Amino acid sequence: MLDGKRILLIIGGGIAAFKSLDLIRRLRERGASVTPVLTRAGEEFVTPLSASALASEKVYRDLFDLTDEAEMGHIELSRAADLVVVAPATADLMAKMAGGHANDLASTLLMATDKRVLIAPAMNVRMWEHPATQRNLATLLGDGILCVGPDEGDMACGEHGPGRMSEPLAIVEAVEQALATGPLQGKHVIVTSGPTHEPIDPVRYIANRSSGTQGTAIARALAALGADVTFVTGPASVAPPQGVRVVPVQTASEMEAAVKAALPADAAVFAAAVADWRVADASARKIKKEGKGLPTLQFAENPDILAGVAGLKKDRPALVVGFAAETDDVVANATAKRERKGCDWVVANDVRPETGIMGGTENTVTLVTAEGAENWPRLGKDKVAERLATRIAEALD
Ligand code: CTP
Repeated sequence: MLDGKRILLIIGGGIAAFKSLDLIRRLRERGASVTPVLTRAGEEFVTPLSASALASEKVYRDLFDLTDEAEMGHIELSRAADLVVVAPATADLMAKMAGGHANDLASTLLMATDKRVLIAPAMNVRMWEHPATQRNLATLLGDGILCVGPDEGDMACGEHGPGRMSEPLAIVEAVEQALATGPLQGKHVIVTSGPTHEPIDPVRYIANRSSGTQGTAIARALAALGADVTFVTGPASVAPPQGVRVVPVQTASEMEAAVKAALPADAAVFAAAVADWRVADASARKIKKEGKGLPTLQFAENPDILAGVAGLKKDRPALVVGFAAETDDVVANATAKRERKGCDWVVANDVRPETGIMGGTENTVTLVTAEGAENWPRLGKDKVAERLATRIAEALD
């Protein structure tokens, strides 16, 4: 439910704007109040009257006048909300946000707000796939902007592919997640997830089989308890969760830099399967066969991100959680790893092939803490994540 929550809804100019009217209705059904802002292009698709009738509130428009400033200045308007939602977020609005423009009411509100921002992109598939839009999206996700969709399907322009705005109910769900309150409210938690890719040359890399499923589930469970989550993810095969700040990385070195940049944090969970080694002298050019025999790769050791953060004198999170993938002597190995890495907890997985855990949907976990080892029953990875998130909330209380 969204009782008493205030949403500032910026409606951009796109055919999907008609769905934003339904979104207003759905948000209000759940108890939220909605203040609509129409961009000039948005007004081409929905009228201020229909938006204000559905919201039962004044609509703020692109060309705002002095009366609005006298009633409520744009700074105040941007901060009176609990969440700013941009739906539809057009390619142009995303570009303005990524570039920090503030040349109309919508972009000024987005620059001035101190609240979280959720975008629901909607545009033609080619515009969505354009490198400029994808670059802007990466910038926005790195800035902590939340994103829902877009969906894939037939588009108003007759093409097919990703670019359709998410359905109103999916946007409502993302809003609920973004505003989730719980025991981790006000706590910042960093989660690493997925594999890392270590380049050999521009087309080849060293990788591992991690799908990112467990790390993603942990980030989702922490966000559901109200945490402000920075999710540093290697190239995973599952989509990142909603309602978290996503920082995509490729290599262990990039992951280390992203984690350090995200500090300080109250807790950090290192679920990523980080490559222990990288190619010391990755080639800037594709390595050719050239008939001179086999290439020889020299390796260099990657930074141990978990050990580095656990050993920090300044800015060490109060709770540092590592993972251990073990095939034998799970408790003994995980206990030794906890000591060696200096972390508070180790979540040990039994990854013997016959367990089917690696790449599967379930996990058998032993939680190793200073108090000893706790065997958890075999659970779905989502349940393991919820249990771990609850334990983290208790520990940080
Ligand atoms: N880790 C890390 N940075 C690395 C390597 C590992 O942050 N360069 C973290 C992982 O995210 C995980 C834990 O350390 O939390 C795993 O440690 P690791 O020593 O790689 O253990 P295993 O994968 O279990 O492998 P091994 O048994 O070879 O030590």
